[in-house]
Amino acid sequence: MVYQASESRYNEMIYRRCGRSGIKLPAISLGLWYNFGGVDIFENGRAMVRRAFDLGITHFDLANNYGPPSGSAEETFGQILKKDLKPYRNELIISSKAGWEMWPGPYGNFGSRKYLIASLDQSLKKLGIDYVDIFYHHRPDSETPLEETMGALEQIVHSGKALYAGISQYQPDDTLRAAKILRESRTPLLIHQPNYNLFDRWIENGLLDTLSDQGIGCIVFSPLAQGILTDRYLRGIQKDSRAAKPHSYMDKKSITEDKITKVNKLNKIAGERGQSMAQMAISWVLRQPAVTSALVGASKVRHIEDAASALTNLSFSQEELTHIDQILVGQV
Ligand SMILES: NC(=O)c1ccc[n+]([C@@H]2O[C@H](COP(=O)([O-])OP(=O)(O)OC[C@H]3O[C@@H](n4cnc5c(N)ncnc54)[C@H](OP(=O)(O)O)[C@@H]3O)[C@@H](O)[C@H]2O)c1
Repeated sequence: MVYQASESRYNEMIYRRCGRSGIKLPAISLGLWYNFGGVDIFENGRAMVRRAFDLGITHFDLANNYGPPSGSAEETFGQILKKDLKPYRNELIISSKAGWEMWPGPYGNFGSRKYLIASLDQSLKKLGIDYVDIFYHHRPDSETPLEETMGALEQIVHSGKALYAGISQYQPDDTLRAAKILRESRTPLLIHQPNYNLFDRWIENGLLDTLSDQGIGCIVFSPLAQGILTDRYLRGIQKDSRAAKPHSYMDKKSITEDKITKVNKLNKIAGERGQSMAQMAISWVLRQPAVTSALVGASKVRHIEDAASALTNLSFSQEELTHIDQILVGQV
């Protein structure tokens, strides 16, 4: 059956402006780091992407190395585009990245111009498209001059292979430097992609202010701490969870008793707000005006539905925020 996107897809989603740019992103974006690789069931990934788009999630985030095997998530998304979403290409923001190891030898990793340009060419082939909307440098590289890495992003944007440039995991000082270099070359830095969730608040110490000042958007990844900030692990490690997967980067040791005790307490507040734990964790990152979008992952269609429904309750009372902070620092 030919896929026909839901006519109501733009009715419920909230779109937020990405920094001082012309682009608005959905408050919820879908990342394809896990569950879209060659090892996964294609039809499950396809169903998740279709449902996401039907819910107004217009942004899909990839990277050269997502899989496993590395690169296969881009192939999966390319297939989904071909089968279902091609007529909707102009309604989509598709991103990819390079910065982690992709192929052997000195030119398949980090931040050289050679690596970034060759990698994007590979990504476009896998995705079966002429351009991505956003291309990111995936992580800082202290050995390559920032001018070279940003010069590569500039070249990519000017060649039309990406419409916008992004960076991921850069600290505030390097973000400022990157923004300045790109501004001088008339390729404004659209967006930064850092990790942010209830357990990891590093971006509150300067990065969010820098992004606001500079007019750069912010899409935060792993708002659910890879699933820990949901009901997933409240009864131990389930067989089909990320932590149990043989190819998982998620260290089982990161699911500590202390965290689970805190999640149980946070879950009570979520219940009082009429939300699931996952929904409250998503609303919590979106309470920051500088955060444009929460970049979630999912293994099931219902995870995406759960995330989208978080948007019906985005506000927190001061009392709730204080209580949450007290739980996080172990005061209550
Ligand atoms: N720039 C970077 O360096 C970087 C790094 C990491 C990620 N990212 C991006 O961020 C995206 C999201 O990262 P993430 O997958 O770690 O995000 P996440 O949203 O923190 O975790 C997603 C996982 O949480 C579980 N989950 C989601 N919704 C749930 C619900 N309603 N109830 C119960 N469990 C639920 C699922 O785990 P199960 O699979 O166990 O069901 C799902 O796979 C990635 O796909 C990628 O695009 C970027």
